[in-house]
Amino acid sequence: MRFAVRYYSRGGSTEKVARAIAREVGERAETTDKGLEKRVDILFIGSGVYKGHIDPHVKSFIQSLDPSKVGKAAFFSTAMLSGGKSDEEVRRLLEEKGITMDTRTFHCHGKFLFFHRGHPDRKDLVDAEIFAKKIGKL
Ligand SMILES: Cc1cc2nc3c(=O)[nH]c(=O)nc-3n(C[C@H](O)[C@H](O)[C@H](O)COP(=O)(O)O)c2cc1C
Repeated sequence: MRFAVRYYSRGGSTEKVARAIAREVGERAETTDKGLEKRVDILFIGSGVYKGHIDPHVKSFIQSLDPSKVGKAAFFSTAMLSGGKSDEEVRRLLEEKGITMDTRTFHCHGKFLFFHRGHPDRKDLVDAEIFAKKIGKL
């Protein structure tokens, strides 16, 4: 199985999750500034949630994808409240490209101002690793 991990993180929380996922699948976590070179079976895509949306860099990255290079995508995010709505935003963008997104997604708290200091914490990162492991088994 080939994997790639791409993320955009303004404050570092999503980056921590991306690194945990990448460690689990034996890859490097790269920002969405780096395009996909080779075809992958699973592309993990991560974003922080900002004003209810994913970062525009992630949107552009998805729109630039060559669907023949992606077997399936899996989405993760960090947010102050919930990343749930961003699932649908990402799924729609991927569908427009003809790329399937796994129904399983990963979300955890990221720190924001005085909220959720210390997150993602050790447990969040272990949960992210478990998520990666499950997706990678397909
Ligand atoms: C400008 C801005 C807008 C945000 N808007 C939301 C939001 O609408 N909903 C939410 O749950 N969190 C929101 N947050 C909190 C971030 O989602 C949270 O801090 C997240 O972990 C950021 O990821 P990052 O550290 O990878 O950039 C916002 C943060 C910033 C800086």
